[in-house]
Amino acid sequence: MKNSRGQDSNSSPKPSIHNSSISYDPAVKTDESLLPTQFGKKRKHSNGKRLQLGQSNSKHVAGTNFADCSEVLPEVKPFDMCLSGSRSSATSTGCLNEKWNEMGHIVEGTEQRILRPGMVLLKRYITLSEQVEIVKKCRVLGLGQGGFYQPGYQDGAKLRLQMMCLGLNWDPETRKYKEQRVFDGSKAPAIPHEFSLLVKRAIQDAHALIKKEYKVSNVEDILPSMSPNICIVNFYTTHGRLGHHQDRDESRESLLKGLPVVSLSVGDSAEFLYGDQRNVDKAEKVLLESGDVLIFGGKSRHIFHSVASIIPKSAPRALYEETSLRPGRVNLTFRQF
Ligand code: SIN
Ligand code: MN
Repeated sequence: MKNSRGQDSNSSPKPSIHNSSISYDPAVKTDESLLPTQFGKKRKHSNGKRLQLGQSNSKHVAGTNFADCSEVLPEVKPFDMCLSGSRSSATSTGCLNEKWNEMGHIVEGTEQRILRPGMVLLKRYITLSEQVEIVKKCRVLGLGQGGFYQPGYQDGAKLRLQMMCLGLNWDPETRKYKEQRVFDGSKAPAIPHEFSLLVKRAIQDAHALIKKEYKVSNVEDILPSMSPNICIVNFYTTHGRLGHHQDRDESRESLLKGLPVVSLSVGDSAEFLYGDQRNVDKAEKVLLESGDVLIFGGKSRHIFHSVASIIPKSAPRALYEETSLRPGRVNLTFRQF
Protein backbone atom coordinates (compact mmCIF):
# COMPACT_ATOMS: atom_id res chain seq x y z
CA MET A 1 0.00 0.00 0.00
CA LYS A 2 1.29 3.47 -0.85
CA ASN A 3 0.92 6.60 1.18
CA SER A 4 0.32 10.05 -0.24
CA ARG A 5 3.99 10.37 -1.16
CA GLY A 6 3.97 7.12 -3.04
CA GLN A 7 5.97 5.35 -0.36
CA ASP A 8 4.98 2.01 1.00
CA SER A 9 2.84 2.94 3.95
CA ASN A 10 4.05 -0.02 5.92
CA SER A 11 7.57 1.20 5.48
CA SER A 12 7.40 4.91 6.07
CA PRO A 13 10.75 6.22 7.19
CA LYS A 14 11.34 6.16 10.91
CA PRO A 15 13.68 8.83 12.18
CA SER A 16 16.70 7.11 13.54
CA ILE A 17 20.31 7.24 12.56
CA HIS A 18 22.59 8.07 9.65
CA ASN A 19 24.75 10.81 9.35
CA SER A 20 22.57 11.38 12.00
CA SER A 21 19.22 9.89 12.01
CA ILE A 22 18.80 8.14 8.80
CA SER A 23 15.79 6.03 9.04
CA TYR A 24 15.43 2.88 7.11
CA ASP A 25 13.01 0.22 6.32
CA PRO A 26 14.13 -3.20 7.38
CA ALA A 27 11.06 -4.70 5.80
CA VAL A 28 11.93 -3.55 2.34
CA LYS A 29 13.96 -5.82 0.16
CA THR A 30 17.14 -4.63 -1.46
CA ASP A 31 18.23 -5.34 -4.99
CA GLU A 32 19.73 -8.77 -4.39
CA SER A 33 21.73 -8.71 -7.58
CA LEU A 34 23.77 -5.82 -6.22
CA LEU A 35 24.48 -7.24 -2.82
CA PRO A 36 27.81 -8.63 -1.79
CA THR A 37 27.41 -12.36 -1.37
CA GLN A 38 28.14 -12.35 2.34
CA PHE A 39 25.17 -10.18 3.13
CA GLY A 40 22.84 -12.43 4.98
CA LYS A 41 20.06 -11.94 7.42
CA LYS A 42 20.77 -10.58 10.86
CA ARG A 43 24.40 -10.21 11.65
CA LYS A 44 26.51 -8.24 13.99
CA HIS A 45 27.74 -6.01 11.27
CA SER A 46 26.68 -5.52 7.71
CA ASN A 47 30.01 -6.78 6.52
CA GLY A 48 30.80 -9.19 9.28
CA LYS A 49 33.28 -8.97 12.07
CA ARG A 50 34.50 -5.57 13.08
CA LEU A 51 38.21 -4.97 12.92
CA GLN A 52 40.38 -3.65 15.65
CA LEU A 53 41.93 -0.41 14.52
CA GLY A 54 45.30 -1.04 13.02
CA GLN A 55 44.18 -4.23 11.31
CA SER A 56 43.60 -3.97 7.65
CA ASN A 57 41.61 -6.01 5.21
CA SER A 58 43.38 -5.44 1.96
CA LYS A 59 41.36 -8.11 0.14
CA HIS A 60 39.24 -5.39 -1.33
CA VAL A 61 41.79 -4.28 -3.87
CA ALA A 62 42.84 -6.35 -6.79
CA GLY A 63 46.56 -6.53 -7.24
CA THR A 64 47.52 -5.85 -3.63
CA ASN A 65 49.08 -8.25 -1.14
CA PHE A 66 46.22 -9.88 0.58
CA ALA A 67 46.40 -9.86 4.31
CA ASP A 68 46.26 -13.33 5.77
CA CYS A 69 43.05 -12.83 7.67
CA SER A 70 40.63 -14.72 5.51
CA GLU A 71 39.15 -16.74 8.38
CA VAL A 72 37.98 -13.70 10.23
CA LEU A 73 37.35 -11.09 7.61
CA PRO A 74 34.70 -11.30 4.97
CA GLU A 75 35.49 -10.12 1.50
CA VAL A 76 33.73 -6.92 0.48
CA LYS A 77 32.47 -7.58 -2.99
CA PRO A 78 33.30 -4.55 -5.12
CA PHE A 79 30.35 -2.65 -6.45
CA ASP A 80 30.63 -1.31 -9.97
CA MET A 81 28.46 1.75 -10.59
CA CYS A 82 28.74 1.12 -14.29
CA LEU A 83 27.56 -1.84 -16.30
CA SER A 84 30.02 -4.23 -17.88
CA GLY A 85 31.37 -3.13 -21.21
CA SER A 86 31.45 0.32 -19.72
CA ARG A 87 33.22 3.00 -21.65
CA SER A 88 33.87 4.88 -18.47
CA SER A 89 37.52 4.02 -18.38
CA ALA A 90 38.02 5.32 -21.90
CA THR A 91 39.69 8.68 -22.19
CA SER A 92 37.38 10.01 -24.86
CA THR A 93 34.25 11.83 -23.83
CA GLY A 94 32.96 12.04 -27.38
CA CYS A 95 31.48 15.40 -28.20
CA LEU A 96 31.70 16.51 -24.59
CA ASN A 97 34.87 18.49 -24.69
CA GLU A 98 34.44 20.90 -21.83
CA LYS A 99 36.97 20.52 -19.05
CA TRP A 100 36.84 20.82 -15.33
CA ASN A 101 37.06 24.43 -14.21
CA GLU A 102 36.34 25.82 -17.62
CA MET A 103 32.78 26.75 -16.82
CA GLY A 104 33.67 29.03 -13.97
CA HIS A 105 30.13 30.29 -13.80
CA ILE A 106 26.57 29.18 -14.06
CA VAL A 107 25.72 27.86 -17.50
CA GLU A 108 22.84 28.81 -19.69
CA GLY A 109 19.69 26.92 -18.87
CA THR A 110 20.43 26.80 -15.20
CA GLU A 111 17.91 27.93 -12.68
CA GLN A 112 18.60 28.97 -9.13
CA ARG A 113 16.23 28.97 -6.23
CA ILE A 114 16.43 29.84 -2.58
CA LEU A 115 14.20 27.18 -1.04
CA ARG A 116 14.48 28.60 2.48
CA PRO A 117 17.05 30.71 4.34
CA GLY A 118 20.39 28.99 3.90
CA MET A 119 19.01 26.42 1.46
CA VAL A 120 19.79 26.96 -2.21
CA LEU A 121 19.06 24.78 -5.22
CA LEU A 122 21.20 25.29 -8.32
CA LYS A 123 19.36 23.46 -11.10
CA ARG A 124 21.37 21.86 -13.92
CA TYR A 125 24.50 23.40 -12.45
CA ILE A 126 26.96 20.62 -13.20
CA THR A 127 27.71 20.31 -16.90
CA LEU A 128 27.31 16.99 -18.62
CA SER A 129 31.04 16.55 -19.06
CA GLU A 130 31.55 17.27 -15.37
CA GLN A 131 28.89 14.68 -14.58
CA VAL A 132 30.74 12.19 -16.75
CA GLU A 133 33.96 12.92 -14.87
CA ILE A 134 32.20 12.53 -11.53
CA VAL A 135 30.85 9.12 -12.53
CA LYS A 136 34.23 7.98 -13.82
CA LYS A 137 36.06 9.08 -10.69
CA CYS A 138 33.49 7.64 -8.34
CA ARG A 139 33.48 4.39 -10.25
CA VAL A 140 37.24 3.95 -9.90
CA LEU A 141 37.24 5.01 -6.24
CA GLY A 142 34.22 2.84 -5.56
CA LEU A 143 35.99 -0.26 -6.88
CA GLY A 144 39.15 0.39 -4.88
CA GLN A 145 40.07 0.10 -1.25
CA GLY A 146 37.63 1.99 0.93
CA GLY A 147 35.13 1.81 -1.92
CA PHE A 148 31.43 1.05 -2.08
CA TYR A 149 29.68 -1.30 0.32
CA GLN A 150 26.16 -1.64 1.53
CA PRO A 151 26.09 -0.23 5.04
CA GLY A 152 23.90 -1.59 7.77
CA TYR A 153 22.79 -0.81 11.25
CA GLN A 154 23.46 -2.58 14.51
CA ASP A 155 20.25 -4.55 14.26
CA GLY A 156 21.27 -5.97 10.89
CA ALA A 157 19.03 -3.80 8.74
CA LYS A 158 20.61 -2.39 5.63
CA LEU A 159 20.51 1.04 4.10
CA ARG A 160 18.98 0.84 0.66
CA LEU A 161 22.04 2.13 -1.09
CA GLN A 162 25.73 1.56 -1.68
CA MET A 163 27.99 3.96 0.18
CA MET A 164 31.59 5.09 0.10
CA CYS A 165 33.23 7.86 2.10
CA LEU A 166 35.97 10.20 0.97
CA GLY A 167 38.20 12.15 3.34
CA LEU A 168 36.91 10.48 6.49
CA ASN A 169 34.81 7.38 7.02
CA TRP A 170 31.38 7.75 8.48
CA ASP A 171 30.08 4.74 10.38
CA PRO A 172 26.29 4.38 10.34
CA GLU A 173 26.41 2.11 13.39
CA THR A 174 28.17 4.52 15.69
CA ARG A 175 27.35 7.70 13.75
CA LYS A 176 30.94 8.77 14.11
CA TYR A 177 33.64 9.76 11.65
CA LYS A 178 36.82 7.69 11.80
CA GLU A 179 40.07 7.43 9.86
CA GLN A 180 39.58 3.72 9.25
CA ARG A 181 36.50 1.71 8.42
CA VAL A 182 35.69 -0.54 11.32
CA PHE A 183 34.84 -3.63 9.31
CA ASP A 184 37.85 -3.76 7.00
CA GLY A 185 40.32 -1.17 8.24
CA SER A 186 40.25 0.79 4.97
CA LYS A 187 41.05 4.46 4.96
CA ALA A 188 38.77 6.75 3.03
CA PRO A 189 40.19 7.81 -0.34
CA ALA A 190 41.00 11.51 -0.63
CA ILE A 191 38.44 13.89 -2.07
CA PRO A 192 39.48 14.60 -5.68
CA HIS A 193 40.58 18.20 -6.08
CA GLU A 194 38.12 18.79 -8.94
CA PHE A 195 35.26 17.89 -6.60
CA SER A 196 36.42 20.43 -4.03
CA LEU A 197 36.69 23.11 -6.71
CA LEU A 198 33.17 22.39 -7.86
CA VAL A 199 31.87 22.70 -4.31
CA LYS A 200 33.68 25.99 -3.86
CA ARG A 201 32.25 27.36 -7.09
CA ALA A 202 28.72 26.29 -6.14
CA ILE A 203 28.95 28.05 -2.77
CA GLN A 204 30.20 31.20 -4.49
CA ASP A 205 27.30 31.13 -6.92
CA ALA A 206 24.84 30.50 -4.09
CA HIS A 207 26.32 33.54 -2.33
CA ALA A 208 25.83 35.66 -5.44
CA LEU A 209 22.20 34.59 -5.58
CA ILE A 210 21.58 35.33 -1.90
CA LYS A 211 23.21 38.73 -2.25
CA LYS A 212 20.99 39.58 -5.17
CA GLU A 213 17.76 38.32 -3.62
CA TYR A 214 18.22 39.51 -0.06
CA LYS A 215 20.28 42.63 -0.74
CA VAL A 216 22.46 41.73 2.21
CA SER A 217 26.10 42.65 2.47
CA ASN A 218 27.26 39.68 4.54
CA VAL A 219 26.06 36.54 2.83
CA GLU A 220 28.19 34.46 5.18
CA ASP A 221 25.62 35.16 7.90
CA ILE A 222 23.01 33.38 5.82
CA LEU A 223 25.14 30.71 4.20
CA PRO A 224 28.63 30.25 5.64
CA SER A 225 31.44 29.06 3.39
CA MET A 226 33.11 25.74 4.03
CA SER A 227 36.03 23.65 2.80
CA PRO A 228 34.95 20.04 2.52
CA ASN A 229 37.02 17.35 4.19
CA ILE A 230 34.29 14.70 4.08
CA CYS A 231 32.25 13.44 1.17
CA ILE A 232 29.69 10.65 1.42
CA VAL A 233 28.97 9.09 -1.94
CA ASN A 234 25.73 7.16 -2.19
CA PHE A 235 24.60 5.07 -5.11
CA TYR A 236 20.87 4.34 -5.19
CA THR A 237 19.46 1.79 -7.56
CA THR A 238 15.99 2.63 -8.83
CA HIS A 239 14.64 0.91 -5.69
CA GLY A 240 16.89 2.95 -3.43
CA ARG A 241 15.71 5.41 -0.87
CA LEU A 242 16.84 7.08 2.33
CA GLY A 243 14.72 7.78 5.37
CA HIS A 244 14.04 11.13 7.00
CA HIS A 245 17.03 12.29 9.03
CA GLN A 246 19.23 15.21 9.96
CA ASP A 247 22.94 15.45 9.21
CA ARG A 248 24.36 16.09 12.64
CA ASP A 249 27.44 13.95 13.07
CA GLU A 250 29.95 16.59 12.07
CA SER A 251 31.87 18.51 14.75
CA ARG A 252 30.00 20.65 17.22
CA GLU A 253 31.75 23.70 15.87
CA SER A 254 30.80 22.93 12.27
CA LEU A 255 27.17 22.39 13.27
CA LEU A 256 27.02 25.50 15.45
CA LYS A 257 28.41 27.61 12.65
CA GLY A 258 25.90 26.12 10.22
CA LEU A 259 28.61 25.09 7.77
CA PRO A 260 26.66 23.79 4.81
CA VAL A 261 26.18 20.37 3.32
CA VAL A 262 26.68 20.56 -0.43
CA SER A 263 24.90 17.82 -2.34
CA LEU A 264 25.56 16.90 -5.98
CA SER A 265 23.19 14.67 -7.88
CA VAL A 266 24.06 12.66 -10.98
CA GLY A 267 21.99 10.06 -12.83
CA ASP A 268 18.32 9.38 -12.26
CA SER A 269 16.22 12.01 -10.53
CA ALA A 270 15.20 11.74 -6.91
CA GLU A 271 12.17 12.93 -5.02
CA PHE A 272 13.81 14.75 -2.15
CA LEU A 273 11.78 15.64 0.93
CA TYR A 274 12.79 18.29 3.42
CA GLY A 275 11.39 20.28 6.28
CA ASP A 276 11.69 21.43 9.86
CA GLN A 277 9.89 18.50 11.27
CA ARG A 278 10.71 14.90 11.94
CA ASN A 279 7.34 13.97 10.50
CA VAL A 280 7.93 13.13 6.86
CA ASP A 281 4.28 13.76 5.99
CA LYS A 282 4.85 17.45 6.75
CA ALA A 283 7.88 17.68 4.47
CA GLU A 284 8.11 19.63 1.24
CA LYS A 285 9.19 17.94 -1.94
CA VAL A 286 11.67 18.95 -4.60
CA LEU A 287 12.96 17.00 -7.59
CA LEU A 288 16.72 16.60 -7.67
CA GLU A 289 17.83 15.94 -11.23
CA SER A 290 21.14 15.04 -12.77
CA GLY A 291 23.46 18.03 -12.48
CA ASP A 292 21.58 19.71 -9.63
CA VAL A 293 23.40 21.08 -6.61
CA LEU A 294 21.58 21.49 -3.33
CA ILE A 295 23.16 23.44 -0.51
CA PHE A 296 21.81 23.56 3.02
CA GLY A 297 23.58 25.52 5.71
CA GLY A 298 23.01 28.39 8.13
CA LYS A 299 19.47 28.19 9.48
CA SER A 300 18.74 25.22 7.24
CA ARG A 301 21.68 23.12 8.38
CA HIS A 302 19.50 20.95 10.60
CA ILE A 303 16.64 20.29 8.22
CA PHE A 304 15.19 16.82 8.15
CA HIS A 305 15.54 15.34 4.71
CA SER A 306 15.04 12.09 2.86
CA VAL A 307 15.03 10.49 -0.54
CA ALA A 308 11.52 9.17 -1.10
CA SER A 309 12.10 7.59 -4.48
CA ILE A 310 14.30 7.40 -7.52
CA ILE A 311 12.63 7.99 -10.85
CA PRO A 312 13.66 5.31 -13.33
CA LYS A 313 15.00 6.29 -16.75
CA SER A 314 15.16 9.96 -15.90
CA ALA A 315 18.93 10.44 -16.28
CA PRO A 316 20.32 12.21 -19.35
CA ARG A 317 20.78 9.73 -22.14
CA ALA A 318 24.21 11.11 -22.96
CA LEU A 319 25.37 10.29 -19.44
CA TYR A 320 24.53 6.61 -19.96
CA GLU A 321 26.13 6.66 -23.37
CA GLU A 322 29.33 8.13 -22.03
CA THR A 323 29.64 6.12 -18.83
CA SER A 324 27.34 3.06 -18.94
CA LEU A 325 26.18 4.17 -15.51
CA ARG A 326 23.82 1.64 -13.99
CA PRO A 327 20.20 2.68 -13.72
CA GLY A 328 20.08 4.71 -10.54
CA ARG A 329 21.43 7.80 -8.91
CA VAL A 330 24.74 8.96 -7.53
CA ASN A 331 24.67 11.52 -4.76
CA LEU A 332 27.70 13.16 -3.20
CA THR A 333 27.31 15.15 -0.01
CA PHE A 334 30.26 17.28 1.03
CA ARG A 335 30.75 18.48 4.56
CA GLN A 336 33.40 20.06 6.74
CA PHE A 337 34.01 18.12 9.91
C1 SIN B 1 22.01 12.27 2.37
O1 SIN B 1 21.16 12.87 2.99
O2 SIN B 1 22.99 11.81 2.96
C2 SIN B 1 21.88 12.06 0.91
C3 SIN B 1 20.79 12.83 0.29
C4 SIN B 1 20.58 12.56 -1.18
O3 SIN B 1 20.83 11.45 -1.63
O4 SIN B 1 20.12 13.46 -1.88
MN1 MN C 1 21.68 13.58 4.95
